[in-house]
Amino acid sequence: MAKTQNKPPYSIFAEFYDQIAGPMRGPMERAREEILGPIIQGLRERREREGARQARGGIEVHARGAGEIHGRDHKQSHGRDARATSRRDTRTPSTQHLAPSPHSRITTCDLCCGTGTTAIQLARRGMRVYAVDASRDMLRVARAKLARAGLASQSIRAIQADMRTFRLPEPVDAITCETDAINHLARKRDLESVARAVARALRPGGWFFFDANTPRAFKELWIMNWIQEGQGFFMTARGGYDARRDRGWTVFDWFVPAGALRRLRSAGLQPGNLNWVERTDKLQRRGGGLQPATLRPSVGTSWRRFTERYEQVAWTKGEIRGALGAAGLTVIGAWDLVRFARGEAWARSGCHFFWLAQKKRD
Ligand SMILES: C[S@@+](CC[C@H](N)C(=O)[O-])C[C@H]1O[C@@H](n2cnc3c(N)ncnc32)[C@H](O)[C@@H]1O
Repeated sequence: MAKTQNKPPYSIFAEFYDQIAGPMRGPMERAREEILGPIIQGLRERREREGARQARGGIEVHARGAGEIHGRDHKQSHGRDARATSRRDTRTPSTQHLAPSPHSRITTCDLCCGTGTTAIQLARRGMRVYAVDASRDMLRVARAKLARAGLASQSIRAIQADMRTFRLPEPVDAITCETDAINHLARKRDLESVARAVARALRPGGWFFFDANTPRAFKELWIMNWIQEGQGFFMTARGGYDARRDRGWTVFDWFVPAGALRRLRSAGLQPGNLNWVERTDKLQRRGGGLQPATLRPSVGTSWRRFTERYEQVAWTKGEIRGALGAAGLTVIGAWDLVRFARGEAWARSGCHFFWLAQKKRD
């Protein structure tokens, strides 16, 4: 019989998050690439042009004014104009050889960064990144990944802070907040606090990219069971919607071979090197009914059971618009996840949206 221990949220979850978050990563990354990608590219090109002008003519350019994009430019940057601009610029000999100066470097914050996957992706694209999360366990896993990725501390800095109150050492060009992190709030009024903290952290004209579950997601998708076996764990999750309190909930039960967590950590979180559970990596997620899983623990292994409970608040489009507007952020668009999901069975229209907002200029 496994020993059971109740855990606060994001503790055991942190150890295995990268293995269970897999299905969401594809749509998330495609949406970021399509929605935010052209903005970052446009910003980079403007900064490089300013840098090149500065280098040629000794013209003083203040980093704050350089490379800002107007809402109008976002539409252009998604179309042929942006690609044409990009081709033109890469052919310009005067800018080709110029690496961006430290002042022209794009600064971002990945809010609720979890295990740091997005922060690492942004840093690998040459951006300076502040990776912010409230969970010490998530940040511990993130820091181990940053160290393995060999990213210098000038590229990424991990900060433990709450999304409702966080502050950054400098204003940033863009903030991402991904994989429905914005639903992980305790109260309805918290959304406006997050929007205000985001607006404070952005430079004027800066961008906020995030995604959120709608009430429909809780009513239609949350009522499900989920089983997954991965490296170093076997997990079952039950979800539901509490209509009276208007909240989605999920209870995770993690079964971990005795000593596995200690060994995972001392092995530098490389469970692939450890052999107590055969790898199957199958996510079996269906409406209703547990699906059979193929669990083959090593003979003689004893298991520990950890239980974690999560609650989420759902946001209507109106609530999101209201909170962003009150904080001085203008909504540029909202995109349904199905557009980026490529027919994945769990994706349903009207349940999950990607959002882009821009901070007003002074
Ligand atoms: C579903 S995970 C998303 C992680 C990451 N953004 C990703 O895309 O993989 C939600 C994250 O939000 C963090 N979180 C929850 N409440 C928070 C709060 N009030 N302030 C900051 N982070 C919070 C959790 O610690 C967790 O890492």
